Amino acid sequence: MISFLWAEDKNHVIGYKGRLPWKLPNDMKRFKDLTIGKSIVMGRRTYESFPNGPLPKRLNIVMSRNSKYQVKEPAVLINDISDLSKYVDMNSEIVVIGGSKIFEAFKDIVDRLYLTKIDYEFKGDVKMIDLDYSKFKLIEKEGGIMDEKNIYPYTFETYQRI
Ligand SMILES: NC(=O)c1ccc[n+]([C@@H]2O[C@H](COP(=O)([O-])OP(=O)(O)OC[C@H]3O[C@@H](n4cnc5c(N)ncnc54)[C@H](OP(=O)(O)O)[C@@H]3O)[C@@H](O)[C@H]2O)c1
Repeated sequence: MISFLWAEDKNHVIGYKGRLPWKLPNDMKRFKDLTIGKSIVMGRRTYESFPNGPLPKRLNIVMSRNSKYQVKEPAVLINDISDLSKYVDMNSEIVVIGGSKIFEAFKDIVDRLYLTKIDYEFKGDVKMIDLDYSKFKLIEKEGGIMDEKNIYPYTFETYQRI
């Protein structure tokens, strides 16, 4: 099963200058809860945005068209979606964590969407791709808790393909 996991602002912005445009620790916690123990798939640029290399306690699968691109162990590199089954059981949950190019590559086969909607406008240079939400059903929605460390209004949503 393929899932998407991402956070976007009011204008669907997801990235700026190779980083996330915001700090939202509660969203980082949700990210962790939804990915620990699973396989995560990411683009080369998203991988390079992690300051300490592969994320622990998850199989990190990095996509690049450059077959010589070096990832830090224990991450693995794939050059094409078709290589995914070499590393993961396709019946287990595989969480695609972006960025936009990687969401594009998986959009026709994604089953579940874990989305954080941040009700704020940020400067950005990467946006989430268009998804056809009529093909998905909202199965969970939860307002995010705001505090001194989580200063933007946000909502967690989960959709399942109909
Ligand atoms: N808000 C969020 O939830 C969220 C989530 C993820 C990322 N982001 C942000 O988004 C930005 C990065 O996203 P991005 O869209 O620029 O880059 P990206 O999707 O992370 O990476 C793009 C790279 O992935 C490789 N790639 C793309 N499609 C491929 C395919 N079909 N097969 C094999 N390799 C493929 C290529 O690598 P090569 O050039 O090496 O061939 C391409 O340059 C950063 O700012 C990051 O912080 C935000």
